[in-house]
Amino acid sequence: MSLLTVTNLEKTYVSPEGSLSRIINVPHFEIDTGKQIALRGSSGTGKTTFLNLIAGILQADSGHIVVAGEEITALSESERDRLRAHYIGYIFQTFNLLAGYTALENVMLGMMFGTGMDTNFAQHLLERVGLGDRMQYRPSQLSVGQQQRVAVARAIANRPRLVLADEPTGNLDYHHANEAVTLIREICHENSAALLIVSHDSEVLGRFEEAKDFTQVNCV
Ligand SMILES: Nc1ncnc2c1ncn2[C@@H]1O[C@H](COP(=O)(O)OP(=O)(O)OP(=O)(O)O)[C@@H](O)[C@H]1O
Ligand SMILES: [Mg+2]
Repeated sequence: MSLLTVTNLEKTYVSPEGSLSRIINVPHFEIDTGKQIALRGSSGTGKTTFLNLIAGILQADSGHIVVAGEEITALSESERDRLRAHYIGYIFQTFNLLAGYTALENVMLGMMFGTGMDTNFAQHLLERVGLGDRMQYRPSQLSVGQQQRVAVARAIANRPRLVLADEPTGNLDYHHANEAVTLIREICHENSAALLIVSHDSEVLGRFEEAKDFTQVNCV
């Protein structure tokens, strides 16, 4: 059954000079419940924009995005925020951890808008990503790979149906990149979440049964 369906999605940006450039033109894309899909595309091709549209952070110019039966493209900004908190976990390209809070607080803060505070589950997730001994550390006291694992734990905190992972290996060496992708795939599987991962890294994406070139999806 389809968890995410995208149809005729378009997004155009206005450049600083005032000209229009169409970044997204996705005629059709879908992910079934619990499935894992990887999209490979080079820098600047619109991968982050695509994920931000699916997450409802950006608003589309036209087209439809349906997640778990709800049409994100028909909702107001506050309704999109609510939908995102309930259905979508997002591992951001730049992590977006809150600097003033510990790893545990970062995982728990997102729960406030979703399933509600659950300290035990937050602790369990941090242990699961190998940070059982770093829960009281702030982002600046963690390595980049560790910060990314906090971001992975936070993305699962509201038990989402869909996890979006934006270039999750961009800041890691080859060994840690492989480890990170394996962890993200396992944790999504364990929590029955579908996964959409975008990256420029063909090696990592080669390990997915369902991997596509982003240009096959985004026909700009
Ligand atoms: N707010 C904006 N206004 C105008 N242009 C923008 C805006 N945001 C992004 N763009 C442009 O849209 C294009 C796609 O950006 P996006 O961040 O989606 O690419 P990406 O595929 O994620 O790249 P990367 O692999 O480097 O992360 C870029 O050329 C960028 O300059
Ligand atoms: Mg990007």
